[in-house]
Amino acid sequence: MSGTVYFATSEMYPFSKSGGLGDVMGALPPALAKMGIPTAVLTPFYGRLRTGEAQIRLAMENLHVGYPWDPTTVDVFATEYKGVTVYFLHRGEYFDRRQYYNEYKGDYFDNAERFIFFTRACFAFIRAQDEPPGIVHAHDWQTALLPAYIHFARPKDAFWRRTRTVTTIHNIAFQGRFSSRLFRGSGLPWEAWSMDGSEFYGDFNFLKSGIAYSDGISTVSPSYAREILTERFGYGLDGILRTREQHLAGILNGADYGIWDPREDRFLPARYSRQDATGKADCKLSLIKSLGLSTHLLDRPLLGFIGRLRDQKGIDLVMDIIPELMERDIGLVVLGEGDLGYERTLVEMSEAYKGKMHAVVAYTEEFAHRIQAASDCFLMPSRYEPCGLTQMYALRYGSLPIATAVGGLRDTIVPHPHPKSTGFIFQEIDSRALLRTILEATALWESNPEIWQDMVHRAMSQAFTWEKSSKQYLELYRQLGYDA
Ligand code: ADP
Ligand code: GLC
Repeated sequence: MSGTVYFATSEMYPFSKSGGLGDVMGALPPALAKMGIPTAVLTPFYGRLRTGEAQIRLAMENLHVGYPWDPTTVDVFATEYKGVTVYFLHRGEYFDRRQYYNEYKGDYFDNAERFIFFTRACFAFIRAQDEPPGIVHAHDWQTALLPAYIHFARPKDAFWRRTRTVTTIHNIAFQGRFSSRLFRGSGLPWEAWSMDGSEFYGDFNFLKSGIAYSDGISTVSPSYAREILTERFGYGLDGILRTREQHLAGILNGADYGIWDPREDRFLPARYSRQDATGKADCKLSLIKSLGLSTHLLDRPLLGFIGRLRDQKGIDLVMDIIPELMERDIGLVVLGEGDLGYERTLVEMSEAYKGKMHAVVAYTEEFAHRIQAASDCFLMPSRYEPCGLTQMYALRYGSLPIATAVGGLRDTIVPHPHPKSTGFIFQEIDSRALLRTILEATALWESNPEIWQDMVHRAMSQAFTWEKSSKQYLELYRQLGYDA
């Protein structure tokens, strides 16, 4: 079987992004297209879509979707991006909002309806093409119903007979779990309402539907693929995953070095490379000045943190030890948004420790790049981390990661001491262990600049390319019978 590979996703950089999923969808489809695989992406037409220079055309009007409850239609717009055809599915009442999934008051009340609609619209759009697709590849709970629709359509409709489906789990903690009442409007048949299907402790679970009914399942690092089979990391889905273990692959994400490379980063005041890293000091000075930090921090280690301010990322562990860091004159810059409580405390602490630490509570791409370049160490004390992209970027920017021994962090960082070390890893997930490891790293920074520079050099030489990862995806498709 050959044919187009269709990705269904709720985010795609540069058009939309709230985290790593957006980055992955902006890079994996182009990497496949570069190998000559016909590739398309289906994604919502958000009100806040960043279309930039892209030429967008109307591809299909008033396509009948018919779900969830009323007869409904969708308009489809299209553009070309790095060899990939990107389709934006437009339905204003669902996607013309300020955010993607939630605002301060919490998740949008109709998230189930929004993504039932979106996946039904994807199904209808692909069905309306002349040729059946080779692969339909869903990502996270938002699109996980699509493989289930195809699974149940296959025996009745020859169009789908040769299509194979994949669901990729980027974060198993988010499952799209909704009231059983919503199952009726989903368009899935009653036989899907079972313990081995979409039902989960009496609720309707989107991600579980994808796991149950996809031909292949993958997640974003080899370590996380093992972890989600256990109770500690599986968030209740370890049971069904164990039954499908032979269909589960762990494929490490890549980093898009076209966007994340200090040699050509347009956000940086100075560029640098591993041969000549002098520009990194200019980036540090420039950030220190723009954030109103004391310039004496130029001669002190500067720690960076970038990420969603959620329990997953362990920002609370960082906040616990800020007083100790400040006492020791270690600088800290945080960029993130998320839980209101964390945001507030970080802002208060920035006031209390003015000059030594600063928290930027916002979503700003420019600062994400500038913090990577300016910092000496990058903090990633995640409680779990399916892959993590920020530590890969940090390595390339010569900011040595200090991270927990979980998921993709274990798969991308070689911990000190080791002849090939690129960062620091700690085992117990608590603030004492984090502090100990930071102090170990900063002591090395202070006492042994040669060893430090060697580590920086090795870190900057790491290459987690999409070329490598996309080949593994193609291999997975081939195992399912795809022969591009
Ligand atoms: P996750 O997907 O769990 O949030 P990743 O490390 O895979 O974590 O990817 C996070 C992505 O989101 C990175 O590109 C990071 O730079 C970006 N990011 C996170 N928070 C912010 C923010 N406040 N401002 C700008 N970019 C951010
Ligand atoms: C998720 C995970 C993160 C991963 C990203 C992209 O948001 O939390 O670890 O890197 O997806 O796969």
